[in-house]
Amino acid sequence: MPKSSQAEAGSILIAAVSGRALAAAARRAGLTPLVADFFADADTGQLAPATDFVRLSGGKAANVAFLARRLGLSAQLLGCVGDDELAEQALAPLRAAGIGLDHVSRAEGCATAVSMIAVLPDGKKSIVLAENANLAWSEAAKRRCLAAIEAAPPDSLLVADYEVPADLVSAAVAAARRRGFPVVIDPSSAERAEKAVLGQALAVTPNPAEAGTLAGLTVDGAESAAKAARRFAEWGVKLACVKLPDGGCVAASEGRLVMVPPVTVPVVDSTGAGDAFAGALAVALAEEQRPFDAVCFAVASSHIAVTGYGSQPAYPTRSQIDALLPRLLQGAHDVAT
Ligand SMILES: Nc1ncnc2c1ncn2[C@@H]1O[C@H](COP(=O)(O)OP(=O)(O)O)[C@@H](O)[C@H]1O
Ligand SMILES: [Mg+2]
Repeated sequence: MPKSSQAEAGSILIAAVSGRALAAAARRAGLTPLVADFFADADTGQLAPATDFVRLSGGKAANVAFLARRLGLSAQLLGCVGDDELAEQALAPLRAAGIGLDHVSRAEGCATAVSMIAVLPDGKKSIVLAENANLAWSEAAKRRCLAAIEAAPPDSLLVADYEVPADLVSAAVAAARRRGFPVVIDPSSAERAEKAVLGQALAVTPNPAEAGTLAGLTVDGAESAAKAARRFAEWGVKLACVKLPDGGCVAASEGRLVMVPPVTVPVVDSTGAGDAFAGALAVALAEEQRPFDAVCFAVASSHIAVTGYGSQPAYPTRSQIDALLPRLLQGAHDVAT
């Protein structure tokens, strides 16, 4: 498979999510004082000590917008924050990166969504999410979001996730499709996602648990991931990606099923790696890369995202992706359908 094409100016509309303030904690052992009550060991009541505490910007759409911008595309965030000081924590790095924030609404009397994240020594994370403003969209805010899609430039692509109300995602996807915009959906939370909406997507990017919930299967390995991907293709998804827990991916498109095996990278923190996948996939598809080349581009992006601490601060540059890409393209292979 050929190397990816270079960035071209394009426009990405990131729908449906607040910038969300992210409290990332404890690189080595643990747990942030902020969330001690949540993480107390249920049996002993003991709290594990944390070794570090940082506050960052995050949220699925915020992360996707950040990466799209980093990879050279223009990006607009469609989201909802609260009227507290966390809103600025979520939005400031996005503003500094040049992401359009004109369509971010503010829910009065509401806190900005917060993820409280404990990062464990192996880089795996445990997240407690307070959705707050993510679910507090007023009817006027929803109308503003849809109006932004209706007024978006002709070459736009919509990236949506389910950290916001499902009816807003349905309406945003419908508005995008009316404009002829391709849509990429990260179906998390999977419980909120609807088959009829996913079926309109150019691409979907569930992890195994989400794929299992959506497809009504247990997804516990490459074979069941492939089965789920095929099912999403039957629903109408043009490029159905199921991310595997180790960095690999199984994808169904154009009647083919392709496995992209992972390569080994030093793992520091996997926070936001799924968003790094969705964002890079959206960028590659906006650049009209071929489907399985786009998947390898996304796999490369999520690999790099796990090698640094936090989400946005660990996101790759294009040259980092391009450096890893040949190994992933080389390993990608068809599997029997
Ligand atoms: N050790 C690793 N090496 C490379 N990629 C990894 C590794 N661990 C996890 N990933 C990737 O990180 C991503 C995590 O996505 P997801 O499960 O959606 O999490 P989240 O949405 O919380 O970031 C997946 O693409 C997964 O393959
Ligand atoms: Mg995810």
